[in-house]
Amino acid sequence: GITPVILCGGGGSRLWPRSRQTRPKPFLPLIGQSTLFQSTLERCNDADLFDKPVIVTGDAHISYVLDQGHQDGTMSLIVEPQPRNTAAAIALAAMRLPQDAIMLVCPSDHYIANVDAFRETAKAAAVLAEEGWLVAFGIAANMPETGYGYIKRGQPIDGGFRVDRFVEKPDLEHATSFLADGGYSWNGGIFAFRASRFLEELEKHRPDIAHSVAEAVKQGALDEQGFFRPDASIFADTPSESIDYAVMEQTDRAAMVPAFMGWSDIGNWQALRDARNADSMGNSAKGQVELVDCHNVLVDTDGPRVSVIGLEDVAIVVDGNEVLVTSMAGAQQVGKLRSIKES
Ligand code: GDD
Ligand code: MG
Repeated sequence: GITPVILCGGGGSRLWPRSRQTRPKPFLPLIGQSTLFQSTLERCNDADLFDKPVIVTGDAHISYVLDQGHQDGTMSLIVEPQPRNTAAAIALAAMRLPQDAIMLVCPSDHYIANVDAFRETAKAAAVLAEEGWLVAFGIAANMPETGYGYIKRGQPIDGGFRVDRFVEKPDLEHATSFLADGGYSWNGGIFAFRASRFLEELEKHRPDIAHSVAEAVKQGALDEQGFFRPDASIFADTPSESIDYAVMEQTDRAAMVPAFMGWSDIGNWQALRDARNADSMGNSAKGQVELVDCHNVLVDTDGPRVSVIGLEDVAIVVDGNEVLVTSMAGAQQVGKLRSIKES
């Protein structure tokens, strides 16, 4: 079977005011009734394909994980004393699992419309992972987004491709040239590999991270609830780096499987409108809302009734005593608002 390793480290200020420092994106019911974290668990809930999931999360988020996750001992938890980014988070899981386990690393901040396609892609990735590859899910790129990793497809191999080049978060100029090139996919942030293989590659390219996490695991212990807690002071000294920079850009064992599954990382309010089912005018409303003569307007209110006339390409979000009004184009810059730090 495949072991899902679900990462929920929090963060994400781009959907403020709905997402907050204390209430990060994975734990919000952004699309439908389920939160992104719950949907991630649900996608990996298929006994024919997946073993018991491992959740790697921070102390700060544990109550969300317990409230929203399974209560029946069908998930194991690893609790980080503080976030040290994804290389360390994945290494924690890899060291706790049997070394021949096939891990499927799943971020919990994505939306995936087609669950069957996700599972088919996971199967294809697992085949390559068994052969010793570090497999990324490749997403068809359609704009020069600078917040993603870019994968250059190489030689075809069993159900996928070798990766010729992996570039994490390029500048706009490079992203534009990758898009024009046509040979690049986005990195979807979902990875499959054997635990031992990931650790070998981490050891090779970032021995500092590998050694520090190994020591933190060695000195760690299960708490009274059965959650694994690495040693706090050793983990605190672990360098903070993402798997993308630490391993995927460096390794020559990278492969990719193309994933056509309705993937969105819901990076801003426009992306959320796109992922929600908009009406024929392109509007999407949640809560008590009246729209007249509006096009591509997203309104999301948790209380006050919102009435809008004659606007286009606008997002309006009401959350408690915070109100955001932004053009869809401006939604990229929500993270820069001073209000975020004060709310
Ligand atoms: N447990 C844990 N601990 N989880 C973490 C930590 C941590 O320290 N840091 C991040 N995560 C989780 C996040 O919650 C998210 O689910 C996932 O790991 C990815 O982290 P992000 O911080 O959201 O990464 P990103 O969006 O900047 O970039 C990654 O995802 C892109 C696609 O959305 C990269 O893999 C890119 O290459 C990729 O294109
Ligand atoms: Mg992300």
